[in-house]
Amino acid sequence: MPLNLAVIGGDGIGPEVTQQALEVLAAAAGAAGLTYKTTEFPFSATHFIATGHILDDDDIAELKAYDAIVLGAVGGQPNDPRLAGGVIEKGILLKLRFDLDQYINLRPVKLYDGIDTPLKGKTSKDIDFVCVRENTEDLYCGLGGIMRKGTPHEVANQTMVATRFGVERCIRYAFELARTRPRKHLTLVHKTNVLNFAGDTWHRAFKEIAEEYTDVETGYHHVDACCMYMVSQPECYDVIVVPNMFGDIITDLGAAIAGGMGIAASGNLNPDGTAPSMFEPVHGSAPDIAGQNLANPIAAIDSMGLLLREVGRIKGEPAAVKAGQNIGVAVQRVTPAFAGEKLDRSGYFTTDIGRMVIDALG
Ligand code: IPM
Ligand code: MN
Repeated sequence: MPLNLAVIGGDGIGPEVTQQALEVLAAAAGAAGLTYKTTEFPFSATHFIATGHILDDDDIAELKAYDAIVLGAVGGQPNDPRLAGGVIEKGILLKLRFDLDQYINLRPVKLYDGIDTPLKGKTSKDIDFVCVRENTEDLYCGLGGIMRKGTPHEVANQTMVATRFGVERCIRYAFELARTRPRKHLTLVHKTNVLNFAGDTWHRAFKEIAEEYTDVETGYHHVDACCMYMVSQPECYDVIVVPNMFGDIITDLGAAIAGGMGIAASGNLNPDGTAPSMFEPVHGSAPDIAGQNLANPIAAIDSMGLLLREVGRIKGEPAAVKAGQNIGVAVQRVTPAFAGEKLDRSGYFTTDIGRMVIDALG
């Protein structure tokens, strides 16, 4: 059975990097004898402005029939009043993550050879960890409200949600992942010294589940300290498990220490396979450089490696897993050529990098 992929190129640089990602995917799949088909969907800020349509429940029902979703980036110009209040972020990205129960946001932080890190003295041996960001709860639920808006007595609240079910499935995923890695180390990142309700749920679940994974060494860092350690001693991390909001923040820091947003790949995973997972670069639509062949497509390309590995796992297709691993290897064969270059805007063009990865697939 061919894999059935939905493609949402989105806005700005989204379609350009997605095109390179799909070309690499085609090459890797072809070499592995994998067949697949792609169907494009227009969901984006551009589409919303043109038609008034964002993404509704019928669209979600349609997307559920696919094996995975390839997403470029969605979002328009920063101050466009037509997009105020995060309509696109909430209406497309978060709706997909929530409605498809993509409860893990998997974000590897790995410094590739040839890529510059702003951390003095750190090499690819020091920066190699994975963030398991919870992706369906926490401050992202949209619970809360505002009253007496615009008056001196305005009141706003925004609720942090931690369910035992949601926390537990995320922590279990992180332990399973840690178990597959050579170091087998898992750090919980939270802020339990202040967030003594939600933090307590996380902390107790972590401690209890740890008892089932005696082969995995565990640690705990407050999120502020984690930011410091990510900069001063990133080698202390192997796998991090973290709630949604803190995970959002520390994975931007993670992208920065591993060479920038152009490098950072991610998977929004529904590990149970009850709905498709979605793979996207961590970066946004970068409208300032759109259409100029300047965007670095590595993050989008690497996300295709994650896609093939995950879909291969869910569908029991070792050929897909292998093809996904091959993309990861090919990317790491290419990056040494970037040594001394500033990626993100100079040296190489988007399409050059795509071509280099395809050549490196061998
Ligand atoms: C990310 C982004 C999103 C998030 C935004 C665009 C809603 O920053 O994928 O990290 O906060 O999750
Ligand atoms: Mn983010």
